[in-house]
Amino acid sequence: MTATICGTGSYIPSYTMDNHDIARLVETSDEWIRERTGVARRHIIREETTVSMAAEAARRALKDADVLPEEVDLILVSTISSNVIIPCAACEVQKELGAVNATCFDLSAACTGFVLAYNTALAYLAGGVYRTALVIGSESLSNLTNWKDRGTCILFGDGAGAAVLRACGGQKEAGGSGAGPYLPVTHSDGSKGAALTCKSRHDFNGLAEEGRQSSPEDMTDESHYMQMDGQAVFKFAVKRVPEVIGEVLSLNRVSTDEISYYILHQANKRIVEAVAKRLAEPMEKFPMNLQEYGNTSSASIPILLDEMNREGRFAAGQKLVLAGFGAGLTWGASIVEWNR
Ligand code: COA
Repeated sequence: MTATICGTGSYIPSYTMDNHDIARLVETSDEWIRERTGVARRHIIREETTVSMAAEAARRALKDADVLPEEVDLILVSTISSNVIIPCAACEVQKELGAVNATCFDLSAACTGFVLAYNTALAYLAGGVYRTALVIGSESLSNLTNWKDRGTCILFGDGAGAAVLRACGGQKEAGGSGAGPYLPVTHSDGSKGAALTCKSRHDFNGLAEEGRQSSPEDMTDESHYMQMDGQAVFKFAVKRVPEVIGEVLSLNRVSTDEISYYILHQANKRIVEAVAKRLAEPMEKFPMNLQEYGNTSSASIPILLDEMNREGRFAAGQKLVLAGFGAGLTWGASIVEWNR
């Protein structure tokens, strides 16, 4: 048994903050942010929540896949910015969709989250436990952002992306039959966790109940926001991401020539460029949309997948690499065969 992606969807808040808006909050400039990160603007929630964005992305993915909510057996939401601790976001999404037959739970692994959620769903489907899964990455990082810290507030944004996975076929057939036969490679190093932390959510201060965004005036304790050693995270990413991509390719005996696209977590243009260089692969194989959305953590990979799907950039039989990295520290890569 294997499984394949049969639909994608995404939801992006319409409200945007460009680099000039950020420069009104902290000492920075559009030029600096573009040059050091590649980000030009980010979309920020207003009325939306992590759950509402996840549900809308999921609705769009189900429509794209032509799958009914009742057919979904598993809903997995990857998030670090859920509205509440319990119930989990996946159960809230289930309620919104009417996916009454689904088993639902969340997964927390920051920017590697979507890759790990995809792998988890794949294991269930390939093992014959479930037939249809909804895998969602949704983040309201603006609630975790310290808008006084120019080292982090320039980077992040909000949004959600989703993919529908369906069990199919047996072993790999001519022309490919899905992602099942490809084994992922994933790693974690908890000893380096201090490089990127967030003690607790700002919602604890009652912001969500009041229906408003966090702002510099709301800040009571900096540890309630994301704190990052930017250089350490940068060095980690440019070393570990090409390494893990190399590992996943060699484990599955797939060559770089066979890969059409590397769908990397969208953290920083310079990280993506460094990974391409280390793999000696052309930049055309590394699509980016971080200029528009910033780093949306576990939403970044499914948002990019959905954009490319809707633009008709994938063809049946193409192989893609998904690669995530981030807090934990965690990192991992999976090979996906596009078969729609
Ligand atoms: N605007 C203007 N200047 C800034 C700035 C900003 N937003 N942020 C930092 N600076 C300044 C620093 O104070 C420093 O000044 P100094 O030389 O006078 O001391 C200088 O720019 C260089 O700072 P540094 O921290 O070395 O910058 P950098 O090139 O490492 O870029 C990041 C900072 C955060 C953009 C970069 O480290 C990065 O992207 N890291 C990875 C982060 C990431 O992707 N995290 C999520 C992973 S999932």
